[in-house]
Order: sequence, then C-alpha cells, then structure tokens
Amino acid sequence: MQKIVIRGGARLRGEVRVSGSKNAALPILASSLLAVGRSIYRNVPPLGDVRTMGRLLGKLGAELSSSPGGAGVTVVDTSHITELEAPYDLVKTMRASVVVLGPLVARYGQARVSLPGGCAIGARPIDQHLKGLQAMGARIELANGYVTARARRLRGASILFDVVTVTGTENLMMAGALARGRTTLENAAREPEVEELARVLNKMGAKIRGAGTPLITIEGVDELHPIEHTIIPDRIEAGTLLVAAAITRGNVLVRDCLPEHLDAVLSKLRATGTDVTAEADGIRVRGRGELEPADISTQPFPGFPTDMQAQFMVLMTRATGQSVLSETIFENRYMHVPELQRMGADIAVEGRTAIVRGPSRLTGATVMATDLRASACLVLAGLIAHGTTEIRRIYHLDRGYDRLDRKLRLLGAHVRRAQGGP
Ligand code: EPU
Repeated sequence: MQKIVIRGGARLRGEVRVSGSKNAALPILASSLLAVGRSIYRNVPPLGDVRTMGRLLGKLGAELSSSPGGAGVTVVDTSHITELEAPYDLVKTMRASVVVLGPLVARYGQARVSLPGGCAIGARPIDQHLKGLQAMGARIELANGYVTARARRLRGASILFDVVTVTGTENLMMAGALARGRTTLENAAREPEVEELARVLNKMGAKIRGAGTPLITIEGVDELHPIEHTIIPDRIEAGTLLVAAAITRGNVLVRDCLPEHLDAVLSKLRATGTDVTAEADGIRVRGRGELEPADISTQPFPGFPTDMQAQFMVLMTRATGQSVLSETIFENRYMHVPELQRMGADIAVEGRTAIVRGPSRLTGATVMATDLRASACLVLAGLIAHGTTEIRRIYHLDRGYDRLDRKLRLLGAHVRRAQGGP
C-alpha cells in the first residue's frame, strides 16, 4: 500500500491549478444515463471516485473512454444500456453510486441499487431519495440489502425534504427531468454542484428553474439528448490548497477556482488574519506568522462546508487562543482528531463540538487516514509539523484529490509518496 511522507516546515510558494470538481463530476457522469448516445465531458478530475463511477456505468453497459495523461476529457456512450443494477461491491466503495438510481428509474423504468449503509463519517441514510421517488409514483422495495424502484413513467410531485441533502436533491432533479408533469423540490440543497447539474440537465433539454435556491421547479420532458460540457472547479480542493498556503505562512495563487463558491471559507480564512485577495485568475493567500482563533459551524451551502472542517482544524491548532468547531452535518466526522492529538494538538471533543486550543507545536508521527477529508487534514498537519509525518492508507486521499501530494511538492513542500505500511 502507498503512503505519503512529509518533512514539515516548508513555506509554500507559487501557483497551483484547481482540478475539476469531484462532487459535480459524479452526478454529471450519472446523468448521461438519461440520454441515449455519446456525451463528452471536459475537466473531469482523474480520481478514485470518478474511476469507480466509470466502472459502475460500464457495468450498466455504457462505454467510457478517457483521454490519456489526465487531460480530463471523458466520453460516455449510453447507446447500449443492458443492466439496471448498482451492485454492493461498487456502492460499498463509493456511496455516491446511489446517484444512478434517479436516472435509471426515470429513463428505464427500473433500478436496483445496493443500500449504501453507514460509512466512516456517519449513518448517511437515503430515506429522502426514496421518499421523493415514491411521491413520484415509483414502487419501492427493500430486500436483501438492495432497494428496487419501479415505475412505468414517473409523474411530477411536490416534494419537501426533511433534511437538506445534496445527492438526494440531485437524484430527484434527474428523476423529475423525465417525469410527466411538474416536480417541485422544497428545502433543496443549494450547493454549487446542484446548480451545475441543473445546468447540465438543461443543456440536455430539461426544464429546470431555481437550482441554487431552496425551491427547484422541474417541468418534465419526454426526452433528453447527449451534450458536451466542461465541469466546474473543485471548491473543496481549492479550499484545501488555500489552507495549506495559510498555515505554512506561504504565498500562493490558487488558480482556476470560483471565489463565489468559497465565500464562507474565504471569510473564515480572513477572520484568522490570513491575507486573502481575489486576483484576475484566482485567489492569492499570504499566510501570517500569528493567526487568530475562529469559531465555525458546518452548514449546508452557502454556509461553511463540512468537507472543509477537518482542514480548518489544522489551521486552528496554529491560532493563538481557543477555536470552537461544530459539525452539524455528519455525526461522526472527527475521526482525524485522535491522529492530530498524537501529533501534539490540543483538541477536546464533546458530542459534535470540538474545542481547539492553540498554538500547538505539532510534531511528525505515523498516522492513519480514515476518510477523504481526514486524510487531507493529516497532509496539512504534516506540512507544519516538526520532523517527519508518514500518512498511511492514502487511497482515501486519492479517492477525491487529483495528486494533492504532487501539487504541494510543486509549491515547495517536502512531500513524497512511498510504498509500505498497512
Ligand atoms: N440524510 C438523511 N437522509 C437522506 C439523505 C441525507 O438523513 O436521505 C442526512 C445525512 O445522513 C447527513 C445529511 O443529511 O447527515 C446531509 O447529507 P447529504 O445527503 O447532503 O450528503 P451526500 O449527498 O451523501 C454530499 C457530498 C459529500 C458532502 C455532503 C454534504 C457528494 C458525492 N458527496 O454527500 O461529500 O460531505 O454532500 O455537503 O456530493 C466528500 O466529498 O468528502 C463528501 C463526503
């Protein structure tokens, strides 16, 4: 198994480009199932999760080809869909596989998808996805760990989400696009990835209004067609790189990111005293020697993203004073805390609140990645720790970051990949 080895202390300098968004790419690739033919997607990030989605689409009968060398062009041909099942082995590797459910039922009248079950960060049920499909006339059966949904043709419905769910909103938006009549989604997720998916669906011929607001209205159409599309940049990768620059007292221009997707992150960075400026082609961060503490509560967009919580915790260990973090989205997203504590961080967790007291002098250690954002947080901690940090199980990192170690190395970090360790 591969590991990442970091010698801390380097101040990051230079420019770095943000790759395409993972959480936009996954539902967009799934949306190709709504049409018959060849869709061409650009800026598709070369990531573990994207490859898993490719395997899943391939299993359903789609033909995929990607440009060599990570150029980011992926062609998906859905002319011969032969299977309507997302099997356990793939869904277990990636929960987001569930986003094929809506498109398959809407286009083919049936889907069988393994229930994702819990994961490292929480229980993560899909009851809201199922409730919505049921309201649209699908018959839902749960048996043998699978959910089967059937409907000759879905019909429009008024759906009020009990909780704000990103992939739930995406699944039902895709289902509604081919349903008969009007679907309204209330209390919908407003994440930029939802808006991006609506843009893609509308290009395909769908009639969706209001994406990016809590009320989405979809007029169902009979048919959608394949498209060409360039995927938006990854706001979480951008945020992670910005924090890397801030904590290393670096001076980095993060290029090709969209500042309007990063308001909450930028405002918290500024609150810590970090110098953040928008430039023509990106965001520049100049890190300061002394940082102020900041309190953060994770919220659905436009609030502070849960996917940046672990990375900010590292920043808080460098601030002088007490910072309070509240994780309101997932119930078990502090798995990185014991590893940060082993590196010398002063963090107390009570329920969903973490109190970070700083500044702490982190020291290098061998640590274990437990999930995607936790691994990014450990990489960041390694950048500022005294001595050498070895991060094991980095397949979690590679699921969602496009060669983060390489990007950091190009900015001057002493980071390398090596074989070994469990
Ligand atoms: N929830 C329910 N019922 C549902 C759906 C969700 O109770 O039917 C709960 C969840 O358990 C959670 C909350 O609602 O407590 C929000 O979950 P959501 O459904 O929004 O999460 P998701 O769609 O499964 C996406 C991202 C995550 C990101 C969350 C929150 C993708 C592929 N994944 O997950 O990304 O953390 O939204 O913003 O878009 C990551 O990239 O590291 C990652 C985990």
